[in-house]
Amino acid sequence: MKELVVATRNEGKLLEVLDILKDLPVKVSALKDMGQLIDLEESGKTFEENAAIKARAVGGVTGKLTLADDSGLIVDVLKGRPGVYSARYAPTSEERNEKVLKELQGVPFKKRTARFVCVMVVYNPITKEVKTAEGVVEGYITDRPKGKGGFGYDPIFYSPELGKTFGEASAEEKNRVSHRARALGKVRGYLRYLLQNEKS
Ligand code: IMP
Repeated sequence: MKELVVATRNEGKLLEVLDILKDLPVKVSALKDMGQLIDLEESGKTFEENAAIKARAVGGVTGKLTLADDSGLIVDVLKGRPGVYSARYAPTSEERNEKVLKELQGVPFKKRTARFVCVMVVYNPITKEVKTAEGVVEGYITDRPKGKGGFGYDPIFYSPELGKTFGEASAEEKNRVSHRARALGKVRGYLRYLLQNEKS
């Protein structure tokens, strides 16, 4: 069976990717299983640049088909923040959520529009080919954290499609509508093709 390396050290993301790709005939390896130290510095200015940097770095070192994503939360009244800085907006997940909630204090629900964006990059180190896809999920920032599921900003992200926050949603519910699932859905056909093709 062919191997696909997922270039992330985020356990929450990895579990979601594994679940979404479970029907593909592929052995998915996580970075932590590779026994190699690879610097995943996010020096790009866009999700796309960061995902491509990670995919090329990991694919270049491992020589294996690589999937990398970069994602984040965009809040309209915060002029798009935290955006590409989502993972670094404050030291801990709880503090990041608190910071966003504080910045939105007094803003009515209707104006608390936000979206999660995910850019997925598949990199084939043999052909050097790069395939990119974006997934988006629209929602609202709540006035307090709700639910303990998921990771990151999930407890403060209300999804009208689910009628609850991502923190209150089951993994199956989140994976039905999430930015990550939507981006992966777009590269799934390409991945299937590569996995069946001898040169990948
Ligand atoms: P990166 O893609 O590793 O740079 O991290 C993106 C950051 O955005 C994560 O650390 C989270 O803070 C946030 N984020 C991305 N996707 C999600 C999600 O599905 N739920 C909650 N937070 C997310």
